[in-house]
Parts: sequence; structure tokens; C-alpha cells
Amino acid sequence: MDRIRIVGGHALNGVIQISGSKNAALPLMIASLLTRETLTLENVPGLADVAMLLRILGHHGVDHSVDGRRLGAAPYASRAIHLTAGTIVDTLAPYELVAKMRASFWVIAPLLARMGEAKVSLPGGCAIGTRPVDLLIMALEKLGAKVEIEAGYVHAIAPNGLIGAEIHFPKVTVGGTHTALMAASLAHGHTLLVNAAREPEIVDLADCLNKMGARIKGAGQSVVEIEGVGALSGARHAVLPDRIEAGTYAIAVAMAGGDVLLEGARADLLESAIDVIEQAGATISVTNEGLRVRRNGAGLAPVDVETAPFPGFPTDLQAQFMALMTKAKGRSRITETIFENRFMHVQELARLGAHIRLEGDVALVDGVDELQGAPVMATDLRASVSLVIAALAARGETTVNRVYHLDRGFERLEDKLGGCGALIERVSGAG
Ligand code: EPZ
Repeated sequence: MDRIRIVGGHALNGVIQISGSKNAALPLMIASLLTRETLTLENVPGLADVAMLLRILGHHGVDHSVDGRRLGAAPYASRAIHLTAGTIVDTLAPYELVAKMRASFWVIAPLLARMGEAKVSLPGGCAIGTRPVDLLIMALEKLGAKVEIEAGYVHAIAPNGLIGAEIHFPKVTVGGTHTALMAASLAHGHTLLVNAAREPEIVDLADCLNKMGARIKGAGQSVVEIEGVGALSGARHAVLPDRIEAGTYAIAVAMAGGDVLLEGARADLLESAIDVIEQAGATISVTNEGLRVRRNGAGLAPVDVETAPFPGFPTDLQAQFMALMTKAKGRSRITETIFENRFMHVQELARLGAHIRLEGDVALVDGVDELQGAPVMATDLRASVSLVIAALAARGETTVNRVYHLDRGFERLEDKLGGCGALIERVSGAG
């Protein structure tokens, strides 16, 4: 297993190209199951999760081809993928595949909507929380599906097709909203989603579905309307830039100091994060190319954050921001409200000399003058990158083990940081 070695204390200067969004690309790829025609997605990031999903979609009968790299394009530049679900050969999503990537559970919606039946393995446990799928199932039942859970599988049938309905989500769920959007797009009649997720990735999916002939209004708001259609066609759609990747690198610059242009980053997708990173002491300016992040010399101020659904502070940046606060001048409170077990990075940051105390869903971070390099262990995708951020400012060498977690959601991180002056390298082999 690869590990990453970092020698801290080097400022970041240069340009980082922001990749296509993982959390937008996954539901968009799954939406290809809704049509017989070809869905072409541009700006798809080269990530382990994308590769795994291509395998899963292939199992259902989706053919795909990837456009070759354009001449002169950076080695890891996002590329276009053509996905064609001409014939769905299997409506069963086996445990072996779904267990590898939770979001693949969402295939239940297009399979059910198009084929009238789907049998999908329950996703199973996750490091950051129990993450049930009861609200996704509730949405499908509201649309008229008959759902049974047996032997670890969710079996849903709607032999006469789904029927439009009013769906109230008791809590905001991104996966539930993605699922309802895809299923209701091919349902008979009108669907109303109430308390829907407002994440940019939801809007990106709705935009793409509308290009495929769906009739969705209000995506990005808490109330969304969908008028079902008989069939969807192919389309071409560019995946949104990754706001979590952009936020992560903005925090890395705030931590290490320096001046970096995040090429392709969009401020409108990151307002809550930009706000707190600036309060901490960095300067962020919008340019024609993206976002410019600078911090030179000024110390870091403690800032309290509470995670919340969009447009609130994203839970997927909580660990990264905590790493930043380990060097702030004073105490900050970080409250995690979305997932019940998303503080796995705390003990690993403590190995680097951080002072963090947990009180239920609150982490009290007392900033220290200096972190020291040490071997640490990645536990999940966002926790692993928070260790990289801390290591950039730590004295001496840090080794981050189990970086396969990173590869799931960050495209060639060490090339992007190394290109801006970080002393970072990937070491392959036991670790
Ligand atoms: C998506 O997960 C993202 N994953 C997560 O990013 C992100 O953290 C999360 O949204 C919140 O923004 C992808 O897009 C692939 P939810 P999702 O349904 O859809 C509870 C990353 O690091 N809930 O909005 O699974 C749930 O347990 C990942 O890239 C139910 O109780 O999240 C959680 O507490 C991690 N029942 C809350 O709702 C349900 O049926 C929000 O979950 C569904 C969810």
C-alpha cells in the first residue's frame, strides 16, 4: 500500500488546476442508466471511485469509452467519458460491488425507473457514520415502488412504472435527492420534493437530466418540481469543478503560507468556506481564472465552524479546517452535525502534536505554536487529506499511511502540491 511522505515548512506558490467534482461525477454517471442513448460527460476526474463506478455500470450493461488525452494536456487532466446503456443486462447490484463504493447504491433509482425492477445490495457500514438509506427507500415507495429488504438486499419493483408524488424529506439528504430526481424524471405525472438537498452537485445532476429531456424545476432550492417524461435521450454535459478539492487546497495554502491560483475554482460554490478561511487569516480573491489564495506571515486566528447542508459549511471540509485550527492562536470550536463519527482524524492530528478535546459532536481545538512530523494513518477520504495539510506545516517528516483513501477523491494530490513547492512524494510498498 502506497504512503505519502511530506517534509513540512515549505510555502505553496503557483497554480493548481481544480479537477471535475467527484460528488457530481458519480450521480451523473449513474444517470446514464436512464437512457438507451449516449451520455457524454466532460471534465470527469481520474479517481479510484470513478474507475470503480465504471466497473459497476459495466455490470449493468453500460458501455463506456474515454476520450484520449488532448495533446499537451496535463497527465492527470480530467477527460470526457461516453456512457451508453443501450440494453440493461442485469438489474441486480451485487454486494461485492456496492460494498466497494456506497454511492453505487443510487443505481436503484434509474434501474427501477427504466426497468420496473431493481435489486441492490445495502451499502453496509462506513467509517464516518451508520449512513442508513431509509430516506432513499422512502422516496421510492412514495413514487409507488413496492420495496422489500431481504438478505442484505433492497428489492424494489414497479411493474407499471413509477407514479409522481409529494416527497417530504425529514432531513436533508444529498443521496435521497439524487435518487428522487432520477426516479421521478421517468415517473408518470408530477413530483414535488420538499426539504430537498440544495448542494451544487444536485443542480449539476438536474441540469444534465434536463439536457436529456427531463422536466425539473427549482433544483438548488428546498422545493423541487419534476414532471415525468416517457423517455430520456443522450446529452453532453461538463462536470462541475470540485468545490471540496478547491476548499481543501485553499486551506492548505492558509496552513503552509504562500500564494496559489486555484484554476477553475468557483467562489459561488464555496462561500461559507471562503468566509471562514479568510477569518482565519488568508486572503482569497476571485480572478478570471479561478480563486487566488494568499497568506504571508500573518498568524492564524481561531474560528468556530458548524457543519451544515449547503449553503452551510460543508462537512467534507470539516477535517481539513480542523487541521488549520491546530495552529491558530487560541481555541476554536468545530461542531459536526451531519455525520455522527467524523472525528477519526483527531487522534492522528494529536500524533503531530495537536491539542484537541472532543465533547460529543464538538471538537475543541487549542492551537499550538508548532506541529512535529510523525507517521500517521489515513482512516477515510477527508480525514486523510487533513493529515496532509497538517504535515505541510509540521517540523520534519510526516508519513501518511493507507493513502488509497486519498486516491478515492483527490486526483494526483502530490503532483498538484509538489508543483507549488511542497516537499511531498508518494512511496509505494508496505505501509
Ligand atoms: C453525500 O453523501 C456525499 N457523497 C458525502 O461526501 C457528503 O458528506 C454528504 O453527501 C453530505 O454533504 C457523495 O456525494 C458521493 P446524505 P450522502 O444523504 O448522500 C443521513 C465525501 O467525502 N441519512 O446527505 O450519503 C446520513 O446518515 C462524502 O466525498 C439518513 O439518515 O449523504 C447523514 O447523517 C462523504 N437516511 C445525513 O442524512 C438516509 O436515507 C446526510 O447524508 C440518507 C441519509
